[in-house]
Amino acid sequence: MSFINTPTFCSLILLCLAVFLWAAPAALADGEPFGKTADGTPVELFTLKNKNGVVVKLMTRGTTIVELLTPDKKGQLANIALGFDDVAGYESDRNQYFGCVVGRVANRIAKGKFTLGGKEYQLAINNKPNHLHGGVKRNLDKVIWKGEEVKSKHGPGVRFSYTSPDGEEGYPGNVKFEVTYSLNDKNELRIDFQAETDKATPINLSQHCYFNLAGAGAATVLDHELTLNADRYTPVDDTLIPTGKIAPVKDTPLDFTKPRTIGDEFDKLIDTATKGIDHNFVLNRTGDGLTFAAKLRHPGTGRVLTAQTTQPGVQVYSGNFLQGQKGKDGKTYAQRSALCLETQHFPDSVNQPSFPTVILQPELRYRHTCVYAFSTE
Ligand code: GLA
Repeated sequence: MSFINTPTFCSLILLCLAVFLWAAPAALADGEPFGKTADGTPVELFTLKNKNGVVVKLMTRGTTIVELLTPDKKGQLANIALGFDDVAGYESDRNQYFGCVVGRVANRIAKGKFTLGGKEYQLAINNKPNHLHGGVKRNLDKVIWKGEEVKSKHGPGVRFSYTSPDGEEGYPGNVKFEVTYSLNDKNELRIDFQAETDKATPINLSQHCYFNLAGAGAATVLDHELTLNADRYTPVDDTLIPTGKIAPVKDTPLDFTKPRTIGDEFDKLIDTATKGIDHNFVLNRTGDGLTFAAKLRHPGTGRVLTAQTTQPGVQVYSGNFLQGQKGKDGKTYAQRSALCLETQHFPDSVNQPSFPTVILQPELRYRHTCVYAFSTE
């Protein structure tokens, strides 16, 4: 004699299944295939959209913004971020950090050297005579991250994670990185960066998107108007390493404390080491919360981009080294045809005792938020 008859048994199984499905965490969707790297690793693409037609496409290689559609004052959508059609484009030497996250340490480290805990570290010299944007092969813009869809109070998003092993690109510590992009209906693209380490190590992450608000591929960015919330900047030597001074922007071509066309005094910067704007601005801030950093406006289309950050600085780079390479949709990216607003710590902070530290200790967590907001005027 059985204690339970077949229909009751089936009902119990169904009930257990229902309870399991109810209690299990919501499945996180994978991205769509976006092709493969040269060594055959699949790359995925995630798409964020909001009710105003803003579209952000992100790939798992380097957590890269591959496409960014925003409306102009007539409601016309255009892609405003430089990029490529496929993974091969991103793997080619036409790619100058388009749309990716740079690190472990964004920007330059003098001669690729730093000393930590009594030990000297030598990193790759990939921007002679210095180290730039984390290295050459396994820097964060080149590795394949794991992507997952997430829902947060900041809107639907994609969380990318990557664990960089101790010694990767010469940096100490096993470091767990997370970069989460979310898009809300206020047209705010929020980027939350986090890192944890098991050994003291320098961390300075940044988003390296190149913007042209007239549409990626438009001939110049010098016709855009720029405002920066920065009374000071960090002057650099001939190799773009800070001298250690913090100088006022007043009475220099770098004074964007009031809205000004980028091209205004640009000729005064062309024959300098930076060949244009390629400077770290020290943000005017009180406290360590989100602070307004920059506003970029294109008068013709009315498109406006603002950047807010929790970081002490913003590297403003006017695409002085763009080479006229072919990019997405057959567009050409001329020299100075885009602007990067890279929120971050100051360059070469590992060797500059007077700058805020970029050393992450094992018991702490690196956090950085950057919000790019899109509107029209
Ligand atoms: C950064 C640097 C520039 C340049 C670009 C990449 O923004 O500040 O000097 O190296 O990256 O081409």
